[in-house]
Amino acid sequence: MKGATTNICYNLLDRNVNEKKLGDKIAFYWEGNEPGDSAKITYSELLHKVCQFANVLRSQGVKKGDRISIYMPMILELVVAMLACARIGALHSIVFAGFSADSLCERILNCGCSLLITADAFYRGDKLINLKQIADEALQKCKEKGSPLKKCIVVKHLGREEVAVDGTCSKSPPLKRLCQDIQTPWNPAMDMWWHELMSSASTECEPEWCDSEDELFILYTSGSTGKPKGVLHTVGGYMLFAATSFKYVFDYQPEDVYWCTADIGWITGHSYLTYGPLANGATSVLFEGVPTYPDVGRMWSIVDKYKVTKFYTAPTAIRLLMKHGEEPVKKHSRKSLKVLGSVGEPINPEAWLWYYRVVGEERCPIVDTFWQTETGGHMLTPLPAATPMKPGSATFPFFGVVPAILNESGEELEGEAEGYLVFKQPWPGIMRTLYGNHQQFETTYFKKFPGYYVTGDGCRRDKDGYYWITGRIDDMLNVSGHLLSTAEVESALLEHAAISEAAVVSHPHPLKGECIYCFVTLRDGHEFTKNLMDELKKQVREKIGPIATPDYIQYAPSLPKTRSGKITRRILRKIAKNDQDLGDISTLANPGIIKHLFNGRCDTKQ
Ligand code: WT7
Repeated sequence: MKGATTNICYNLLDRNVNEKKLGDKIAFYWEGNEPGDSAKITYSELLHKVCQFANVLRSQGVKKGDRISIYMPMILELVVAMLACARIGALHSIVFAGFSADSLCERILNCGCSLLITADAFYRGDKLINLKQIADEALQKCKEKGSPLKKCIVVKHLGREEVAVDGTCSKSPPLKRLCQDIQTPWNPAMDMWWHELMSSASTECEPEWCDSEDELFILYTSGSTGKPKGVLHTVGGYMLFAATSFKYVFDYQPEDVYWCTADIGWITGHSYLTYGPLANGATSVLFEGVPTYPDVGRMWSIVDKYKVTKFYTAPTAIRLLMKHGEEPVKKHSRKSLKVLGSVGEPINPEAWLWYYRVVGEERCPIVDTFWQTETGGHMLTPLPAATPMKPGSATFPFFGVVPAILNESGEELEGEAEGYLVFKQPWPGIMRTLYGNHQQFETTYFKKFPGYYVTGDGCRRDKDGYYWITGRIDDMLNVSGHLLSTAEVESALLEHAAISEAAVVSHPHPLKGECIYCFVTLRDGHEFTKNLMDELKKQVREKIGPIATPDYIQYAPSLPKTRSGKITRRILRKIAKNDQDLGDISTLANPGIIKHLFNGRCDTKQ
């Protein structure tokens, strides 16, 4: 209705507490990285904390429309921070805590964030990450580039009092990993402790009443040009789409305990760990750790601990656990499980069947959900127990979604077909723009095939009308469910003084789905050594983050190019795979190089 107002935080919390009487219901069971470290929060406690932090933000001068950067581990304060932004109409821009200082800085600058929320440090498995130190590096870089960001709020997480006062734990048995004497760098001109600000904040806070088309958040995703794109979602449509798809795709029931293993730093964590479940008044698990710590049975021990009914994870995690066999799974009961979800990349039928047979004991339907940061919620997905499944197919469109498959000339293909996956009409959760670059939004998603939204994925429809995603058809790669562009890895490599040219291609990987294979040519006077290779890997890790670390780097005396000078990645992909069937190479300016590149292949046997 025109002129009507709303607030998403109000709908997620106040409405559930006051109208639905869910105040005492658990919103989140928090499970720390270290077994035994856990907490829980009810809907009314969450509402109070969010109100307090919203008041803190307001007292720091944050207003509707301001951008707030959030760089945090998977802790309850992350949810509190994002909902507090939503409550006062500020846009959160959450940056996955595995990203590097450079990546964080780039994202802060791109949308002009005025404040950063972070934490002291955390453990991922047995690895200590001093997050504040990385955040400080990013802030230093931002300052040099003229960023207006002047304030940083820091959660004391690893060093929190109840577990680690002067190195001793008050928890029993002591959680040794928490009792760390971590050094948190501190800049008094800028830094403020979360708990100090919260201690005097009121638990009541009037929400900012918003138009349904007001901006809700920005979330960066890799773009094929190499620069991350700030996908912008708005309040009304996103809320409706996240809530409805959560409800139907997981067949949500009030007594469910739902667990999505994604990090909140990705869209899955926004839509299906925070907004979707909370809109439905659901109880969820929020897990800080990794599937393999302290052992590969951790996921199933958490499932049993909280009696998880609906479980949502990524194919890469399934393949990783599959490698360790059935025994660690079967040691746990898992009898609470009812629906199993998959997201992030195509799930190969072998992993699908293992998930179905071993994890779900053939009684849990699998929902293989295809969607994107840009779509806000599920686009192609089965509805559990209603849609007959085929292992590896995301099956059919969700309500209101109209897919089509186009050929290269933009014609719609009927029946059995393969081509470009597009959507023919908008849906509530569709992104509204790329922050600060509406023109790029139009060209990226709507220019190639006017009148359609282009996903960038290839897709096949079988004789029964089932959709099968065949993977990206642009210069993107999907490593363990995380999208990266070849261009961003290439530009990180090119910053090294020894490199004159670099080409990056995707290469199949048994666990990660795809991995990163690089070809590099060197400047005169440099030699291709093991040392250089290590430096290059480190360089990419530092520029982008550990997920982008190259798996293979091959020396290339030169790169195959067309006569117009374009690097032919299509051919490099085949060289990496040792696939001699190169097709037409008549357009190459330098076909002679191909033989050398085949001879110099990296050993990719896993
Ligand atoms: C790309 C979007 C959606 C949240 C996580 C990733 C691939 C995603 C599936 C699936 C096959 C999938 C696509 C898509 N993808 N889910 N079920 N089957 N492919 O979000 O980082 O925006 O990546 O992930 O290639 O375009 P994202």
